[in-house]
Amino acid sequence: MSIATSTSPIQPQPGLLGQTVVVIGGTSGIGLETARRARAEGAKLILAARNPERLEQASRELGTLSTSAFDATNFDRLKSFFDGLPAPIDHVLVTGPGPYYSTLADFDVEKARRDVDAHLFLPMEVARFAAKKVRPGGTLLFMGGTGGRRPAAGALINALTAAMPALTRALALEVAPVRVNLMAAGFVDTPLSGSCSAISWMRDARNSARHSRSARVIGPADIAALAVHLMINTALTGGTYDIDGGEQLVEG
Ligand SMILES: NC(=O)c1ccc[n+]([C@@H]2O[C@H](COP(=O)([O-])OP(=O)(O)OC[C@H]3O[C@@H](n4cnc5c(N)ncnc54)[C@H](OP(=O)(O)O)[C@@H]3O)[C@@H](O)[C@H]2O)c1
Repeated sequence: MSIATSTSPIQPQPGLLGQTVVVIGGTSGIGLETARRARAEGAKLILAARNPERLEQASRELGTLSTSAFDATNFDRLKSFFDGLPAPIDHVLVTGPGPYYSTLADFDVEKARRDVDAHLFLPMEVARFAAKKVRPGGTLLFMGGTGGRRPAAGALINALTAAMPALTRALALEVAPVRVNLMAAGFVDTPLSGSCSAISWMRDARNSARHSRSARVIGPADIAALAVHLMINTALTGGTYDIDGGEQLVEG
């Protein structure tokens, strides 16, 4: 008796095959890299950001379903964006505006208000407008940071950084069975962090990670891998996931 030896290897299914992923801030850094990774996992993409040329470029690279150019902190525009999307969508990643670092000495209340809009009200408004369009088991994914946990980063970012895990847990309860998760990143090598390199505590954190055996500087691809995992793994909701290459272990 002969036993057939020709076996065709089982091909793993792409994890996001046929699913729709919306990325706000999908033209640069963390958002663009997550869009690439989601596409490689079989997702269809809808990208939003302010600059239409960069959206066009990302769309050409990734073959998007659609793109939309608007400021996500304009919450009327944000609502019409989600109202206009075909339902259901599967996952939404919100990246977008960078942080506002200030000490009391140079505190500017208008900039601070815009920062609260960008980092507290934007996730809340996304949950309000998007959750009804998201398939049960899909996730809303927000970006936070670990750097803002240092008191030296300033009172405002310290307070907002502390608020985001609480916001994520409360929203996860409110919009279930849609899931809500937060990625808290250390220094990530992106155009945004390059523009913040004048901030001394941030430069020190990056340098100590660079020169330590117990840490490494992370890139957008590291965050993208976590983001796609959080989209696929339906057991994860209400959580905050630190991703910093060990930076917190080596800082003073
Ligand atoms: N890089 C880090 O070290 C780090 C660490 C922790 C947390 N984070 C957070 O992660 C997020 C993304 O950071 P990144 O490093 O990937 O930044 P990035 O490379 O500058 O990319 C930001 C993306 O968001 C879009 N965007 C910015 N403001 C927007 C707005 N008001 N409305 C709509 N889209 C907007 C940008 O495109 P347009 O300019 O065309 O709008 C771009 O596509 C930020 O919230 C940041 O605070 C970053």
